[in-house]
Amino acid sequence: MTTRTAIVTGGARGIGAAIALRLAQDGCDVAVLDLNGDCPDTLAAIAATGRRAMALAVNVADADAVEAAVARVAGDLGPPTILVNNAGLLREGTLARFALADWDAVQDVNLRAVFLMTRAVQPHMRAAGWGRVVNLTSIGALGAFGLSAYSAAKAGLHGLTKSLAIELGRFGVTVNAVAPGLTETTMITEMSQRAGVSVDQMRADALRDIPIGRLGQPEDIAQAVSFFADDRSGFVSGQILYVCGGPRA
Ligand SMILES: NC(=O)c1ccc[n+]([C@@H]2O[C@H](COP(=O)([O-])OP(=O)(O)OC[C@H]3O[C@@H](n4cnc5c(N)ncnc54)[C@H](O)[C@@H]3O)[C@@H](O)[C@H]2O)c1
Repeated sequence: MTTRTAIVTGGARGIGAAIALRLAQDGCDVAVLDLNGDCPDTLAAIAATGRRAMALAVNVADADAVEAAVARVAGDLGPPTILVNNAGLLREGTLARFALADWDAVQDVNLRAVFLMTRAVQPHMRAAGWGRVVNLTSIGALGAFGLSAYSAAKAGLHGLTKSLAIELGRFGVTVNAVAPGLTETTMITEMSQRAGVSVDQMRADALRDIPIGRLGQPEDIAQAVSFFADDRSGFVSGQILYVCGGPRA
């Protein structure tokens, strides 16, 4: 099998770390681009698969930093032809109380960064005549109380995914999105702390709406990303796959 270079944004922890490991198990060398460039556990897990790994401290919403990081990955690991736009930021609040700075931060990480990253990586994909872009959106894109900024950004990402699929298909590049439901990561721990409820209470509330009867695990999401990144998935593009334990979406 061809060894490809994959970039996973936000891969230092949570869903991104599981995706980085899974892509390494699938045979890729993996670069993690995260605000936190110090993620020895993720790097060790990748190295244990026999694949090469690197981590760079990058704000993926910063255009210059993104260009520099992608060039560094191409130089060190080879041209990246798999891009997983996983970095995300969640801020809750009703409209009347929502700070503009929070609105901007949520759009920057969940939407602007995906534009910047995909723009920086696509020349490598076009040169290879092959590429896979997988964007992490959310079931929250369908709307949720107090999540208007996040919901708008993730729904915007659905439009970006579908438009880029149309635009980049002729270069052998597929563009798809995975939309998780509530998944066990630090993101939900922090969300419960901000809401002033226990994680157990949040889990119990969420479970009422999940037919499969459990929350997602990062590996559940990585499984869907692996499918879209697979060489054999080249006829699947512009799709949003909900991975949320039931058919509601
Ligand atoms: N956990 C869930 O329940 C859930 C549900 C639906 C969708 N998602 C989405 O899945 C993705 C991963 O979620 P998670 O739960 O693992 O999140 P997380 O908060 O646990 O991890 C996010 C990672 O992204 C990094 N990051 C944040 N801003 C960044 C920036 N500007 N530049 C570079 N890195 C940055 C963080 O440092 C962190 O390592 C996100 O896009 C999130 O919106 C998560």
